[in-house]
Amino acid sequence: MTEQSANIGVVGLAVMGSNLARNLASREGNTVAVFNRSWERTETLITEHPEAGFVAAKSYEEFAASLAKPRTAIIMVQAGRGTDAVIDELTKVFEPGDIIVDGGNANFHDTIRREQAVRETGIHFVGTGISGGEEGALNGPSIMPGGSVESYKTLGPILASIAARAEDGEPCVTHVGTDGAGHFVKMVHNGIEYADMQLIAEAYDLIRRGTGKTPAEIADVFAEWNTGELESYLIEITAEVLRQVDAETGTPLVDVVLDAAGAKGTGAWTVQNALDLGIPVSGIAEAVFARSLSSSAKQRAAAGELPGPDSESWKPSDPEAFIEDVRQALLASKIIAYSQGFDAIIAGAEQFGWDIKKGDIAKIWRAGCIIRARFLGHITDAYATQPDLVALVLAPYFRDAVSAAQGAWRRVVIAAAEAGIPAPAFSSSLSYYDGLRAKRLPAALVQGQRDFFGAHTYKRIDKDGIFHTLWSGDRSEIETEPSWH
Ligand code: 6PG
Repeated sequence: MTEQSANIGVVGLAVMGSNLARNLASREGNTVAVFNRSWERTETLITEHPEAGFVAAKSYEEFAASLAKPRTAIIMVQAGRGTDAVIDELTKVFEPGDIIVDGGNANFHDTIRREQAVRETGIHFVGTGISGGEEGALNGPSIMPGGSVESYKTLGPILASIAARAEDGEPCVTHVGTDGAGHFVKMVHNGIEYADMQLIAEAYDLIRRGTGKTPAEIADVFAEWNTGELESYLIEITAEVLRQVDAETGTPLVDVVLDAAGAKGTGAWTVQNALDLGIPVSGIAEAVFARSLSSSAKQRAAAGELPGPDSESWKPSDPEAFIEDVRQALLASKIIAYSQGFDAIIAGAEQFGWDIKKGDIAKIWRAGCIIRARFLGHITDAYATQPDLVALVLAPYFRDAVSAAQGAWRRVVIAAAEAGIPAPAFSSSLSYYDGLRAKRLPAALVQGQRDFFGAHTYKRIDKDGIFHTLWSGDRSEIETEPSWH
């Protein structure tokens, strides 16, 4: 082993780690040290990829010795306790000024905690979101690093060397903000991913049940959509998923896959944090809940006989026009999901003291990540033109798109309700849109109810102050201090 010959190291050589290590090794100027808890995996990687010139280590000590200073290592292990164990080992063999990067899908609260703890040793800890799955890790992911500005000086060029490149050649990486900012943004990315996937699934369901088209025929519809404003990685792979035929039964594979969606937690975290921040991410929440409902086996089995319209016999009068309506409903709902996701990012940045540039986030999502889409170019433009845009849906491009789509959007939601086909993400996005644009909301009544039973007080539209009314009996209004209830 050559002493201190590597400029970057990877710990954890499952598929994501191996692919990221190979990506790093393929870029000029990088020599990559690799370490895995079990030597077998390391051995397989170095045997299968001699071209990578990996510097393989059998222990943490050897791994540290193989890295040039400041040592920089990316941890690619399943998020959770394993990450803490690796951090413990690395902090024992690293020195002040060295950099430990966590590239897993860590909870950003853990990242904040870990950053604080590691900082005390003088070592930098950088929680980094990495999106793009196995293929992205190998060929170019979108990368969302947090951590200190100082560590980014060393890390930035290395990450830029492996990141995906947007059409204009810019690498899809930026220093998102300090400590947990990178993992926070990756969490919201995943929340939007959940919403996008659910919306596409609802579109598929409505088209299938409404028009009787086969999965392969719907694959053609998605492939066609992928040539227009909906062009995206998720639409593209959906067409491929729908085309897949099961070798055993000869039927579309999608028909033999159990309809119970799993989740590893990032979607739920997005919603939990948005609840704490008071940000309505209803599209993302519906997507998370739709997965939960799909996996509620007991309830679903028991509820199968509940009454409802016969969705099998429901057919739109003009199937082609209906498909176009669904396309527009998908576009409008997707705009809402992104708008809500960016609201959550802005609120998180405020709450946790991160200077997150929305435009930069849109830019690094243009390529490499799972939610990459033509659409992201318009988000980038929107924030470049108006950095303080209050809500994405208010940007001219998106306002016009939603305005053009809203008739279709409403028809689709009505059709779904009439047919008894669940479309929670479509309908909640539309409700959010209508809530946002409403001149007056029934929240006034809710305030009245709160004040009635709990003396929670309310404000008035016509004068300043905080008021409480004795709603029954003596109706006189009294000015008061806010209640503590
Ligand atoms: C990515 C993906 C990736 C993974 C998520 C979601 O950006 O590359 O989001 O991180 O697919 O963990 O997985 P679940 O759907 O299982 O929650």
